[in-house]
Amino acid sequence: EETVHEEINKRFEELIATLPSDRGFIAPTLFNYQGFWYPPISVFKGVLLMQNHFKARPTDIFLTSSLKSGTTWLKAIMFSTMNRFKFDFASHPLLTTGPHDCIPHLAAYITDHDVAAMPPPRLFASHSAYPLLPKSVRESSDCKIVYICRNPKDVFVSLYFFAMKLRPPMLPPISMEEAFDLFCRGVSEFGPYFEHVLSYWKASLESPQKILLLKYEEMRNDTVKHVKQLAEFLGKPFSAEEEREGVIEEIVKLCSFEKLTSLEVNKTGKVAFVPEILIGNDNFFRKGQVGDSTNHLTPEMIERLDKITEEKLKGTGFTF
Ligand code: A3P
Repeated sequence: EETVHEEINKRFEELIATLPSDRGFIAPTLFNYQGFWYPPISVFKGVLLMQNHFKARPTDIFLTSSLKSGTTWLKAIMFSTMNRFKFDFASHPLLTTGPHDCIPHLAAYITDHDVAAMPPPRLFASHSAYPLLPKSVRESSDCKIVYICRNPKDVFVSLYFFAMKLRPPMLPPISMEEAFDLFCRGVSEFGPYFEHVLSYWKASLESPQKILLLKYEEMRNDTVKHVKQLAEFLGKPFSAEEEREGVIEEIVKLCSFEKLTSLEVNKTGKVAFVPEILIGNDNFFRKGQVGDSTNHLTPEMIERLDKITEEKLKGTGFTF
C-alpha cells in the first residue's frame, strides 16, 4: 500500500511539472492530463491511482458525468433504485445522508479506502472522461456505466454559480465573461465539456449494453420513464407488482429537487470528497431548472456557445 502511494506521489510531482496549465473556475490552476483538465488537488492523484490500480469487477456500476450535469440527482436515483429491496421509504438513508455520501467518488475515495473490500455491487462515481477511466473498467464487458449530460449553456451557468460559492476567497475573482471564455475554449474542471460528452457518446454507440447515456433535460421531462429504463439497464427491472405499488413514483419523489432540498442533511450537512476539503451539501442544489441559462447569458454569449456546439457535434449524431 505504502509503496503504491509513494510511487503515485513521485509520478504526480514529475507529471505536474510537464503538463500544460490554465486557469480554473474553482481551482486556481488546472492541469491538462491526457487531453482533460484536472485540478491539482489530491483528486488528481486519485485519478492516477484509479487509472493504474483499480481492478474492475463484472458487478461494478459507474455513474459518470462532467460537473453540474445532474450527478447529485442521479446519485440519489441510482442509489435508491439499486437498494430498493433493502430500505423502505419512511426510513430511507437518503433522508439523513447526502447523495454524495451514498455513492463515493472513486478517484477521491480510492486514496484512503480499501475498495477491494466493498461488497458487490459496488457503486462508484467518476468525473473522468471515458478514455481516462481505468482500463479494466473500459475493457470489462460486464460492468455498467451510466453517463449523464446536460445542455452546455445550463452546464456553464450552473458551473459558474457553483464556482462562485466554492472558489477560495483568497483567489482573484473570475468574472462570468472570463469564465465563459475559458469554457468556450474547452478549459473547465474535467473538461473540455464537449469532448467529455462525446467520449461517452461514442463509447455508448460501440457498447450500448455497457454504457447508458442519459440527458438531464429528458429526465426532467419524464423522470419515471428514465428511472424504469435505468433499472432495466442495471439488470434490476421493476416488476409489474412494483409498478402497481408505485415504487418508481416513490423513488422519483424521494429524489426530487423539492424533497432533497427540504432535508436538513442537504441544508446543513457537508461532504468530504477528500478529507481536507469539506463542501456544504447545499452547494449541489441551486434551481434545478432546464433553460435557466437564458436568464444569465447575453444573446452574444448564447450565439457563440450555440455555434461551438454545432461545430463540435457535427457528424457525431449526438444532440443535446
Ligand atoms: P442548477 O445549478 O442549474 O440548479 P451536479 O449534481 O452534477 O453538480 O449538478 C448540479 C445541478 O443539478 C444544479 O443545477 C442542481 O440544482 C441540479 N440538481 C441537484 N439536485 C437535483 C434534483 N434532485 N433534481 C433536479 N436537479 C437537481
